[in-house]
Amino acid sequence: MKHLPKLYLGTNTKMYKTIADTSLFISRLDSLTKDLNDAPLQLFVIPSFTTLFAAGELLKRSHIRLGGQNVCWEDEGEFTGEISPLMLKEVGAAIAEIGHSERRHVLGETDFQENMKVLCVLRNGITPLLCVGETLKEKEYGHADEALRTQLKIGLHGVSPDEASKLWVAYEPVWAIGVNGKPATKEYASEKHLMIKHTLYELFGEAGYDIPVLYGGSVNLENAEELTVMPGIDGLFIGRAAWDAHRFNRIIRTVLSSYLENVD
Ligand code: PGA
Repeated sequence: MKHLPKLYLGTNTKMYKTIADTSLFISRLDSLTKDLNDAPLQLFVIPSFTTLFAAGELLKRSHIRLGGQNVCWEDEGEFTGEISPLMLKEVGAAIAEIGHSERRHVLGETDFQENMKVLCVLRNGITPLLCVGETLKEKEYGHADEALRTQLKIGLHGVSPDEASKLWVAYEPVWAIGVNGKPATKEYASEKHLMIKHTLYELFGEAGYDIPVLYGGSVNLENAEELTVMPGIDGLFIGRAAWDAHRFNRIIRTVLSSYLENVD
């Protein structure tokens, strides 16, 4: 089989699911997707902090990667309530989600803080999954590209082209996320992904093109396939439509088969 770039499909379970719920979800997903071990696919799950230890134990020999929903920008110190990259690594989390829309807009995080986090997790050998996305107002004011470029240029400041190969980016328009969100059309999402890829090229040269850029924001079984076949979209970062393992498995299989058809 010729070498194909991977398709990235993952979910952040936000502040849902207890340890018991997460363990059940992960075990189900793992067994439902076992046969896809050799597929050009990177699956990942990002559950809440208290579930990570149990999840890490369950995923020890799994093809599914585990991530933390947030991370501190220091390895240790007087940062009450924070979790360091060392602590994430200790429980088997290989990914740190940074700058999710809810962190930025509900918890008030800034691009400069996201940047410190990106640099800190890279130093610790963890994959940063930097989330960027414009607000509805920025979109309506015709300012989406500028907003996204700012988030990328500040968020990734100081990352070397060598380290760029370890980055993942998610494009998640704020207006598309959650129960009140409206998914981006495939054309709009693709246009923004290509702009993001161009910005990553400006920052890192050729290495920038290889950074996976995932779309997130009200992805569901109906729109998952059409989004993933669009230029510039390397995968999906899914919220509520993926929180049932069977439903997530259906999305994975639908998207993977059209991905394989389209690259043939
Ligand atoms: P949603 O969440 O799919 O439920 O809109 C996406 C996200 O917040 O990453």
